[in-house]
Amino acid sequence: MAVVLKSSQEIEKMHRAGKVVREVLELVRSKVRPGATTYDLEKTAEARLNELGVKAAFKGYHGYPCVLCTSVNSEVVHGIPSPKRVLKEGDIVSVDCGVVVDGYYGDAAITVPVGAIDSNAAKLLKITEESLKAGIAAVRPGATLGDVGAAVQGVVEGGGFSVVRDFVGHGIGAQMHEDPQVPNFGEAGRGMKLKAGMVIAIEPMVNAGGPDVQVLADGWTAVAKDGSMSAHFEHTVAVTATGARILTE
Ligand code: CO
Repeated sequence: MAVVLKSSQEIEKMHRAGKVVREVLELVRSKVRPGATTYDLEKTAEARLNELGVKAAFKGYHGYPCVLCTSVNSEVVHGIPSPKRVLKEGDIVSVDCGVVVDGYYGDAAITVPVGAIDSNAAKLLKITEESLKAGIAAVRPGATLGDVGAAVQGVVEGGGFSVVRDFVGHGIGAQMHEDPQVPNFGEAGRGMKLKAGMVIAIEPMVNAGGPDVQVLADGWTAVAKDGSMSAHFEHTVAVTATGARILTE
């Protein structure tokens, strides 16, 4: 599939989707506390989307059952909200949300501390969010996907953590997943050149231990093989003449 460039009108629709994603993520963040279940977070998000009349992107996608992915501690991505999953002090929970507005997608994720967390977990959240910012800062016309990946990887490995290789970011637009793939690792100067009008979701997944992941028997939940904690931050970003424009804030 070729990369689809977006018009400014299309980017405005994606920004509308992105703003809904941001609102839902901030609402969910405010509900994260010891004793809450990941299903409580799901119900909060679903109720707000219903109020807004906005369609969730994940529910029904290849049979995925929920509007959010909620991935706790060593879960990397695609954790399924469950009333049995009770958050406790010291946990971290990654919350990923996507929506469609007027046929265009927005997709973003945050990782949220549950109460007080230990210093290594706090560093993991900080480094992962910084790595996303570094990837976004590398975005401009003429830069390459390798520049973006190298920027993310540099921050992650500089912090002593590992970039997950088995999942990558993606182009996004009238479909949630479009070309190109956007790895969170790479070599500066390599790979496809970015052009104004491209829109990509950059989404570093970072493990405190080794980079290897495995998918659980539910067919969705990806976990760090070594059981280490894992964080995930994501933004949908448009490439403009002057650099990156974040559509999910
Ligand atoms: Co995504």
